[in-house]
Amino acid sequence: MLQLQWTPDMETGIEVVDRQHRELVEQVNRLLQAMRAGKGRKVVGDLLAFLGRYAVEHFQTEEEIMRRGGYPEYERHRAVHEAFKRDFAKLAAEYEKQANTKLALTIEVQKRVMEWLRQHILKTDKKAAEYLREHGAV
Ligand SMILES: [Fe+2]
Ligand SMILES: [Fe+2]
Repeated sequence: MLQLQWTPDMETGIEVVDRQHRELVEQVNRLLQAMRAGKGRKVVGDLLAFLGRYAVEHFQTEEEIMRRGGYPEYERHRAVHEAFKRDFAKLAAEYEKQANTKLALTIEVQKRVMEWLRQHILKTDKKAAEYLREHGAV
């Protein structure tokens, strides 16, 4: 079963961020499991909604840390979060409309949420964390 595997290289070294990342990974896996197990609309819908809210909360935490730390790429990083939020809302709407088959939607979640999250942490978040640590901002 394809799951998002937490790996030590995903650690940013910022405790609150790492804790939220682990929670996000868990939530993504919970969602994928429910979709694959063919859980009903209520269960999957609730998990999608929870993940969406948690992601927004997490982005706020990160943005606040970056802003306070004077991170020069703050705006660009924030724009990436905004783009994800829009994409995630689209995905949730597609689910609501049942516009895709279950399998297609699972694949979309893998691509647009699971892989996005891993790459975002590994590249974008770690880059920000490195700057913030080097500049004594965290
Ligand atoms: Fe993050
Ligand atoms: Fe981020």
